[in-house]
Amino acid sequence: MEAGDFSVASVDILSITEDDLKQARILIIDDQVANICLLQNVFNRTGFVNHTSLTDSREAIQRIFELQPDLILLDLDMPNVNGYAVLHKLREKLPPTAFLPVLVLSGGSDSKSGAWPEQERTKRKTLAAGATDFLQRPFDMSELLMRIRNLLRTRLLHLELEKQNIVLEQKVSERTAELRGALAELKETQKQIVQQERLRAFGEMAGGVVHDFNNSLMSIIGFSDLLLGNPDILADRKLAVEHLKIMNTAGRDAAQVVSRLRDFYRNREVEDVFTAVDLNEVIEQTISLTQPKWKTQARSSGRMIEMVTDLEEVPPVIGNPSELREALTNLVFNAVDAMPEGGTITLRSRPEHQAVLCEISDTGTGMSEDVRGRCLEPFFSTKGDKGTGLGLSMVFGTIKRHNGTLDIESAVGHGSTFRIRFPLDNGTMATDAAERTTAVQFTQMAEAVEAKS
Ligand SMILES: Nc1ncnc2c1ncn2[C@@H]1O[C@H](COP(=O)(O)OP(=O)(O)O)[C@@H](O)[C@H]1O
Ligand SMILES: [Mg+2]
Repeated sequence: MEAGDFSVASVDILSITEDDLKQARILIIDDQVANICLLQNVFNRTGFVNHTSLTDSREAIQRIFELQPDLILLDLDMPNVNGYAVLHKLREKLPPTAFLPVLVLSGGSDSKSGAWPEQERTKRKTLAAGATDFLQRPFDMSELLMRIRNLLRTRLLHLELEKQNIVLEQKVSERTAELRGALAELKETQKQIVQQERLRAFGEMAGGVVHDFNNSLMSIIGFSDLLLGNPDILADRKLAVEHLKIMNTAGRDAAQVVSRLRDFYRNREVEDVFTAVDLNEVIEQTISLTQPKWKTQARSSGRMIEMVTDLEEVPPVIGNPSELREALTNLVFNAVDAMPEGGTITLRSRPEHQAVLCEISDTGTGMSEDVRGRCLEPFFSTKGDKGTGLGLSMVFGTIKRHNGTLDIESAVGHGSTFRIRFPLDNGTMATDAAERTTAVQFTQMAEAVEAKS
């Protein structure tokens, strides 16, 4: 924040005028009418127009709250309720942040407390009781006036500061409300973006699924046409059964293809549900789920991609299986994209100390140091129109939600390895982490959006 932002709180001493001082409310509390008259005379002569007096100190507190004075001149030695008692009561009743100056005017020249050590003791006791200032009678009038002016100036500045604090607080709460609104908007945008990326991944998969599904339908239609159009084959029970078996297998394949799509969306309604997840199962499901992309589509464009698994038995991690599948799906898609000439994708799992390692490597193009450094940024893509740049930022978000870590190793021409580690005791912290990640992602996204616009 720049210094200028605080200008509202800066107090201009000059803004308190002589007139303000003269208009300030002064309350005199003294049981001696003669003392009061003396002070009133001085005030009238010097232009302090707002003074009131009180001789019965039993009414002091009530009058103070009624009059709301800016300064109290208080006598110490009074019957019934003495000055100390008034000070104590006042300290009790006033809010701790209030600044109401009390100038104690103690003992006359005939007082017992005339001796110096006694005077000094009285003064300390008075200040300790909460008095702001202290003067011993008989006092010099010009000194009294100077002290009064100083105390009033401090009081008025204090009031001004309080006023400005209120304005400042209002501003802060307005800004907080604005920020809250902006954050809600950003959350909504992020949701839409994530949904968009999901749809894109879904579309990509659907492309492959359509191809596989068509293949199955072709066999079913072809063989049933054959049977229907050739009564001889239909009459040959053995041959007919053979054809029916092929059709049956094709039908089952098609059903499996459809279930892949279902897998992709499974659990989507119950987001944020963390359960014990077998990562190996998630890996196997991801492989089957992404088969159209790495097998069928890749083959139809003339490249061979081999999918290798190297899975060890691992303890379950606490997580959301659907999100984890989606994250791995994104990593497989990226690996396929990085291997235009074909190659090998290896998926590994290993138990580690208090963690489970899940690793995906490809033998693709790899990344330059610059791309590797930026690849997690939302909207960062080297694929032009073919990429959204959201895949890895989603992957990273998912890993963080699971309190996991991600290491990326990559060298141009030598492929890439994405190494994910999930802690074994991440369950209780998952929600916290989710909040944190969302915040981090929002900031990153906002920065990215800003940079792009
Ligand atoms: N396995 C990989 N091999 C090489 N580069 C990769 C790999 N995965 C990601 N990248 C790089 O990271 C960028 C961001 O990836 P991602 O966030 O998934 O967005 P997109 O795939 O839409 O480009 C990619 O454009 C690519 O340059
Ligand atoms: Mg991607």
